[in-house]
Amino acid sequence: MSAPTPAAGNTPSQRAHKVTVVTLRDLKARGERATAVTAYDYPTAVFADRAGVDWLLVGDSAAMTVLGLPNTLGIGMTEMLVFARAVARGARHSFVVGDLPFLSYQVSDEDAIRNAGAFIAAGCDAVKCEGGRRIAQRVRAMSDAGIAVMGHIGLTPQAIGQLGGYRVQGRTRAAAALLLDDARALQDAGAFSLLIEATPPEAAEQIRDDLDIPVYGIGAGPDVDGQLVISHDLLGNFVGDVKPRFVSRLADVDKVVTTAFADYAASVRNRKFPAPEHWYAALPESKSGGTARPASKRPERARTVARA
Ligand code: KIV
Repeated sequence: MSAPTPAAGNTPSQRAHKVTVVTLRDLKARGERATAVTAYDYPTAVFADRAGVDWLLVGDSAAMTVLGLPNTLGIGMTEMLVFARAVARGARHSFVVGDLPFLSYQVSDEDAIRNAGAFIAAGCDAVKCEGGRRIAQRVRAMSDAGIAVMGHIGLTPQAIGQLGGYRVQGRTRAAAALLLDDARALQDAGAFSLLIEATPPEAAEQIRDDLDIPVYGIGAGPDVDGQLVISHDLLGNFVGDVKPRFVSRLADVDKVVTTAFADYAASVRNRKFPAPEHWYAALPESKSGGTARPASKRPERARTVARA
């Protein structure tokens, strides 16, 4: 199977420079869609970066996708900064957004600035926080500290207790109008962009048309400035029957990995693994000593396993 061709105008070779807030603004101005996925580790960041994805979200969804927690409320700054550093190391071109976890910004402006600053020190280009008008003051405080902030409205998973679960937001005209108020408040507070999660397309489109800053969507329909998906949903890299309606699953990592582990276990049990090419040869008796190398790279016949 041949590799898919990256979308025109967005190939890694054409993106010789690091994506910045200016790049993202320019994409919107040109009417080009930005692309984004979540990333929590170094290899995923490298692969997405190579694929030409514009921005990576080190999402607190790591709580569920990586740590196996039931929701995003149980992850904190300690874990998020480990993921953020790994992703920042892997992203040469992609813009990296660190997701402020539950209670890292809600309590005070000082907390918000300190924790947002920790993401920036970890190599992120921006931070994201959830909420509309009620956190506009925090967005202002972080922006005034020189930190690029992405807002996040609609379904805000840190508020599932209040929302009554993972429910689509902005479905009525009145609810969509409140979302628009939230969006305006965040833009006025200095947010450089906005993410809208789980709303009907009409609500997202109205906000996109109203705001000057880039407006991205996850489960918010096509009429936004770019799309974010959770990479584990896209890749089929999750446990259980997760089928978000707004993601097209493009791979079956669960099956690939389970099959590889099963093949490995079988090859150990039936003694096909390790084979000679996996062994280290003992060094012939010599005065010089030396480092063990894979047997396949050495002419000697000795097959004693040595630790490298
Ligand atoms: O943590 C995350 O991945 C997110 C998305 C669901 C928007 O915040």
